[in-house]
Order: sequence, then structure tokens, then C-alpha cells
Amino acid sequence: MRYQNHITNKDICMKQFNFFKHLHEKLKANRRHFTVVFKGQSFKAIENETLLNSALKQNIEMAYSCGSGVCKQCRLFVLTGAVNNTDSDKSVTLGCKTYPLSNLEITQI
Ligand code: FES
Repeated sequence: MRYQNHITNKDICMKQFNFFKHLHEKLKANRRHFTVVFKGQSFKAIENETLLNSALKQNIEMAYSCGSGVCKQCRLFVLTGAVNNTDSDKSVTLGCKTYPLSNLEITQI
């Protein structure tokens, strides 16, 4: 028999699940989207996804190997726009470690 005001662990888990699901969807909807021009093609990038991942998801060919910032195969030159992560000369960055902060024009080195 189940009482009207009896809350089970399953009820609590479902409430927490629904709360985090709602939060995730809200955060996902609020992400900023940018347009990246690369080798004459353009693709969409979102602020919390690396340029390499965004490109690969949209079948844009971008050189890479390790995907973790070690091999330097994914070096990019930022022609216009802002990214979170650049080398000392402020224009060279790694596609696998870089997140867009604005619309970009980039080329591979
Ligand atoms: S893919 Fe190796 S450093 Fe980016």
C-alpha cells in the first residue's frame, strides 16, 4: 500500500534526473554559436567544443593526429576572430585545444 505523501527513493531520483535533464537542455540551448571559415568552407562551432571536434562532426577535413595537444598536427592560424587559446604570437593555435570566442576565419599551417 502506498500513502499519498510517501516519497520513495525512486521519486527523489526521478526528480533529480528531471532537474539535471532540464538544466542540461537549458545550458545547451544557451550556448553561443559561431561561424568558422576554413579553406573556403564554413562550418558551425559552439563555444564549448573545440574547433577540431566541430569541424570533424561536420565532415570538414582538418589535419590532426593525437587530438590531445601533443602532436601539433592540428596547428591553425587565426586570420580573424578570437579564440581562447593561442601561442605567444597570438595567431597560432591548436585546433584540438581551442574554443571559439567569435566568428572566425582560420587556415591550417
Ligand atoms: S591533434 Fe595533436 S596537437 Fe592537436
